[in-house]
Amino acid sequence: MGGGLKPSGERTLGREHNTLRDDPMSERKKAVRDFWDTSPCGTSGLQRGKELRRFFESIEKRRYELEPFILDHAEFDKWRGKKILEVGCGTGTDLLQFLRAEVNAFGVDLSIHSVDLARKRLGLFGLNGRRVFVGDAEHLPFPENSFDLVYSWGVLHHTPDIARAIDEICRVLRPGGEARIMVYHRWSLVALRSYVRFGLLRGRPMRSLDDIMAVHQESPGTKVYTQAQVRQLLRRFHNIEVRAVLTPYDLSLADGRLSFTWLRRFVPQSLGFFLMARGGKSGVGEVSPAGVPVPSFRER
Ligand SMILES: C[S@@+](CC[C@H](N)C(=O)[O-])C[C@H]1O[C@@H](n2cnc3c(N)ncnc32)[C@H](O)[C@@H]1O
Repeated sequence: MGGGLKPSGERTLGREHNTLRDDPMSERKKAVRDFWDTSPCGTSGLQRGKELRRFFESIEKRRYELEPFILDHAEFDKWRGKKILEVGCGTGTDLLQFLRAEVNAFGVDLSIHSVDLARKRLGLFGLNGRRVFVGDAEHLPFPENSFDLVYSWGVLHHTPDIARAIDEICRVLRPGGEARIMVYHRWSLVALRSYVRFGLLRGRPMRSLDDIMAVHQESPGTKVYTQAQVRQLLRRFHNIEVRAVLTPYDLSLADGRLSFTWLRRFVPQSLGFFLMARGGKSGVGEVSPAGVPVPSFRER
């Protein structure tokens, strides 16, 4: 499996795997980074005991039990031998699956603590931790046309400028490459429950859902999207598919202490909190779905 991809053109910030650019980071983005530095994704409620390997194994087990639809969306084995980038890889749970499937995979994440954990984790499982970098989805530290797949699960709704991040994903994809992402769904049971809890039950029925999600859903400034908005964000791609999937978080109350998984059979998937989306980057010289020859991304 070929490695050989180095992040391009950035001043390193103290550690060789830290590729954040010189650009001063906005306060909003710092708040996002600080949140995930304090609570790396998937680690809450797990006992970080002496045995780091067992800790990582329990994160992995819990993740695919709760979110088995990741396996269909990512199709880890399909990318064997291809070069892929995971944007917002967190502690590296999905990245590990790509690497185990012999995919030439790299990861970036804004959170230094998450990247440290991901690097340790890959090392523990005999893989090269230097494939993970600290980096910003809105300024991806890679040359254009580098990857066959850019994958991002549960990340882009946290970054302050999602449109910029999607432009970056398009830039680093090769012509003919594919983006597969997941973002949070506005018309979902999770969002409805948050509105009831933080709006209605607090006597603030006029409080907007945007404000509620920005304040109460994980890192500060989290956004939720409709399917139409996701299609609009991905408009530079072709063969766009967007679908909602019902999650255990839609069917639980009291911070997950009450779970109604039996309800799954009666609730439509369209009310699920996760919007899984994919789209292809047109090849240069190809004809777009609108019948117009497609220039390279830079020429647009
Ligand atoms: C909910 S976690 C998801 C992590 C991983 N994809 C997973 O599913 O386990 C969100 C992650 O997005 C990262 N993130 C947020 N904004 C980012 C940005 N602008 N660039 C890179 N990573 C970002 C956070 O640091 C955090 O690790």
